[in-house]
Amino acid sequence: MGEGLQPRAVGPRIAAIVPAAGRGERLGGGTPKALRALGGRPMLVRSIEALRRAESVTQIVVAAPPTLVEVVAQLLGRDVRVIAGGAERVDSVRRALRAVDDDISVVLVHDAARPLTPSSLVDAVAAAVLAGHPAVIPVLGLTDTVKEVGPDGRVIRTPPRDGLRAVQTPQGFRRDVLAAAYALKDIPVTDDAGLAEALGVPVMTVPGAQEAFKVTQPHDLVLAEALLARCAPGDAPAGADSRGGTDSHGGLDVRGGSDVRSPG
Ligand code: C5P
Repeated sequence: MGEGLQPRAVGPRIAAIVPAAGRGERLGGGTPKALRALGGRPMLVRSIEALRRAESVTQIVVAAPPTLVEVVAQLLGRDVRVIAGGAERVDSVRRALRAVDDDISVVLVHDAARPLTPSSLVDAVAAAVLAGHPAVIPVLGLTDTVKEVGPDGRVIRTPPRDGLRAVQTPQGFRRDVLAAAYALKDIPVTDDAGLAEALGVPVMTVPGAQEAFKVTQPHDLVLAEALLARCAPGDAPAGADSRGGTDSHGGLDVRGGSDVRSPG
């Protein structure tokens, strides 16, 4: 367990919201996905530790499965506010946003299902918002070609791969932008930035991290266990916080450091 969030006397107040109320049926196993063990500790605990290690984060709010709020609160410790999530991810984020302290100016939204996310990525997203971008997402280039396919199974078109990116979390927002985005109703989007886009807010990209992949299918768990096995107990995967350099995919690079590790 980490040492808890350290109070910061100066600087902007930045909250991280973690929707962790999903059932995670694609992963199997019966336990809510966020509470599935990874290297002997629940995935959610590992995700929260990355946020605690991030220098930018001053508050953490977790949306837990409604029947497990007390259990999750005990698990995470007193520096994390735990609330009941909703039926859909958007409901969980909306509820968590209401539980954020009044003096928070930037909100990061981070999936519990990305337990190996480097804290340097969390800080890079926060820094880009503080630098003036109202909405910021970490992205990676694609290795597979992507096709748009119709309901009959026929290919409709092949979008040029160079212009496509896979999107990760944490996604960062000015608080007023995220609040306005979540006031929208019935917008069919699969990420938080999609709501900001629906508002007409420009969304900036920063380089993502391979380690920040989402654990969705059983083989993702195997990969995550293998990465953890390469390092000492409690550590992030090797190299997870040693990234730096330039974005090879056209996004903003606000990270410092000289250890160049290509994100794509
Ligand atoms: O299902 P999926 O992997 O897309 O879920 C992404 C994140 O949203 C997970 O961390 C999951 O726990 C969370 N979620 C939630 N409330 C829901 C559904 C999903 O907090 N009702």
